[in-house]
Amino acid sequence: MTNSTPVTDTAQAAPGGSPWWTSGVVYQVYPRSFADADGDGIGDLAGIRGKLDYLAELGVDALWLSPVYPSPQHDNGYDIKDYEDIDPVFGDLAQFDLLVAEAHDRGIKIVMDLVVNHTSDEHPWFLESKSSLTNPKRDWYWWRKPNASNGPPNAWGSFFSGPAWTLDEATGEYYLHLFAAQQPDLNWENPEVRHAVYAMMNRWLDRGVDGFRMDVINFIAKRVELVDGPAPSVDASCPMGPQIHDYLQEMHAAVFAGRPGEHLTVGEMPGVTTADALLFTDPARHEVDMIFQFEHVSLDQGANKFDARPLDLPALKRNLAHWQTDLAETGWNSLYLNNHDQPRLVSRFGNDTTYRYESATLWALVLHLQRGTPYIYQGEEIGMTNVRFDSIADYRDIESLNHYREAVEEFDLDPASVLAGVHQMGRDNARTPMQWDATPNAGFSTGTPWLAVNPNHTEINVAADRGGDRSVFRFYQALIRLRHESSVISLGDFTLLEPDHGQLYAFTRSLDGETLLVVANAADAPLAAPLPAAVAALLATATRVLGNLPPQSPATPLRPWEATLYRLP
Ligand code: NOJ
Repeated sequence: MTNSTPVTDTAQAAPGGSPWWTSGVVYQVYPRSFADADGDGIGDLAGIRGKLDYLAELGVDALWLSPVYPSPQHDNGYDIKDYEDIDPVFGDLAQFDLLVAEAHDRGIKIVMDLVVNHTSDEHPWFLESKSSLTNPKRDWYWWRKPNASNGPPNAWGSFFSGPAWTLDEATGEYYLHLFAAQQPDLNWENPEVRHAVYAMMNRWLDRGVDGFRMDVINFIAKRVELVDGPAPSVDASCPMGPQIHDYLQEMHAAVFAGRPGEHLTVGEMPGVTTADALLFTDPARHEVDMIFQFEHVSLDQGANKFDARPLDLPALKRNLAHWQTDLAETGWNSLYLNNHDQPRLVSRFGNDTTYRYESATLWALVLHLQRGTPYIYQGEEIGMTNVRFDSIADYRDIESLNHYREAVEEFDLDPASVLAGVHQMGRDNARTPMQWDATPNAGFSTGTPWLAVNPNHTEINVAADRGGDRSVFRFYQALIRLRHESSVISLGDFTLLEPDHGQLYAFTRSLDGETLLVVANAADAPLAAPLPAAVAALLATATRVLGNLPPQSPATPLRPWEATLYRLP
């Protein structure tokens, strides 16, 4: 980061009385992989507590913790067997209370992961439900008789390979699981289920948490007619049913309405459009504050998520811009380019070798200058990259392992090409331990890490980044500070410039007579002068605010992955 001058006006956290997340930034912690205090090779709450000063220095407003509840860990905690406690592998409720208190002392909020589309198959609710056809909790899950040919009730596939139905031999019925067989879906049509969830949420809020990230929350409402029907080839990519809005409004009334304070709700919603998002995030409808949508992270996927296609920059720009403009008047965006389910952004959208610093900071600038709440995924702030383990045996993610097994054993695909897909798109890319320093386990653990550290931790780590001239961390710090201080960044209008340009990413933000301009060259090649006339004309009168490379005169040609924020007169 070089050359920063203050952008604007307010020094308060939320311009114009808007909620804190309009000018705030959320940092996602994947607890297993963040910091291991007890040396068992798995990150824990005490480890997170030990890094709160680091996070406060970065300047983030809230931490979203991926699930820390008791779980058999088939899906790293997204299979919960007790909503009321903490998994011993991460600590206990006393540790959790300390984490909340110590985060709050630093002005950092704690957002829990709420995984209520499904439970673990070891949750007492499911054990009861499964125990007999007449158990009072039988209807808490989706049980169906076999179809006429004695097979699954319909042809839905699970997101983790194989069918979405598993037969329980003892009672002779199938249960639905959109994810692994160990993650049976709760039946939200049953009001007892809904009220049990709301009561649980209230207990966590009473305990002091500041909101929820809601796992695949649009899937809690199912298109039941398809579940019951004979359809042989139903597309499971968006099983969302129309009741979803009623459920979310009921949840809001039962949990958030009348509760003092501003609690963040962000719904993870695969398959939704901006039209859906307007309904979900219109504050007047009382559903959720914002959603995680998937359109922009699906553009480089072919037949399935492991079938990676080259990045089409104009398509990505246009897609993100369409979310900006469609939600400009009503609703609110979340902004993310990676998380625990996605490859590392610098490997996916940038150049993680020759231009790692430049491309990591370019995407940071492009994302953080948009309207919405930015989410930083742990390690993004130091430009951590994807990993390429030599063998599938080195991977741990249930999605990648199931996909590999199915592709190689059932579809007879070439193991090397299947592994190549995992290298590019697998979720373990994001889950290798946080790289704190250059020591053998990257400062993550004194034990054997549950998933191997990325061998590049000897060069890419927090200590090296912060000690260097070109620090990704300091660039993120500057972006977070700018958002806190600037209402044009948090609330201003967005206009994409040169949408079809294959290399230039340029846009403006404006509010109350103030205009900012972002000019970025998202490519390994320089961007030759002259720039497109409209952008060149704006640049002629612009003052530099922040850039990832030192200023040069003249400003063009743009250097590879150069990204600069300007203020216009
Ligand atoms: C989405 C979560 O982000 C992912 O990690 C998980 O595997 C599925 N939902 C199932 O809970």
